[in-house]
Amino acid sequence: MNILIVYSHPSKESYTFQILEQLKALLAIQKWNIKVSDLYAMNFQSNMTEMEYEREGFANIELPIPNDIIAEHKKIEDADCIIFLYPVWWSDCPAILKGWFDRVYSVGYAYGHKSHFQKMKTIKYGIAICTAGHPSEFLQETGISQSMENIMLNDRLGKRFEHKEMLILGGTLEIERVREEHINRIKKLVVRIKSTCIQ
Ligand SMILES: Cc1cc2nc3c(=O)[nH]c(=O)nc-3n(C[C@H](O)[C@H](O)[C@H](O)COP(=O)(O)O)c2cc1C
Repeated sequence: MNILIVYSHPSKESYTFQILEQLKALLAIQKWNIKVSDLYAMNFQSNMTEMEYEREGFANIELPIPNDIIAEHKKIEDADCIIFLYPVWWSDCPAILKGWFDRVYSVGYAYGHKSHFQKMKTIKYGIAICTAGHPSEFLQETGISQSMENIMLNDRLGKRFEHKEMLILGGTLEIERVREEHINRIKKLVVRIKSTCIQ
């Protein structure tokens, strides 16, 4: 079983990095193959070039797809499960991950246009895990959780994934109060990945 983690945090001192390490350790116990697209470490280009926009905006599929995007497509095609892991910044993912969706979800591959290009395969399980400073209750009461879930699960993951879920690990401003709960949720997630992807 192949798992791709699309990871977006600039610092190894971060709590999100600790979650990445715990997640990788738990997945490794299952002996699954893990690949990480570490967007900051890769210096992933999040901005579209003019030519990329002209390809996307006008569905001009004769224009070339950049090599870094072809490399991400290859990782997607190899994956049975994709996990997006990131901190919540201004009630959304960091711009580098937004740029991943802007550029990697190219026209004719991830949406639109009947082209001769290979279409993105349907992936068994798509998971968004985000860490958030605000407590989960606040994010629920204000509707921010629901709006993040709506955009992430219904649009960005969309029909490209058979099963989808989002874990919002809230309350990181008081980390010792929530750490154990977060780890338990990650452990339960690994059990769900196993039952969903290995039948
Ligand atoms: C630029 C920036 C914007 C942030 N915006 C939010 C936000 O909108 N909502 C929230 O709950 N936390 C927000 N936070 C807090 C982060 O979600 C929190 O730092 C993260 O979950 C865990 O910390 P880490 O950076 O150590 O991984 C923000 C943090 C930064 C640096």
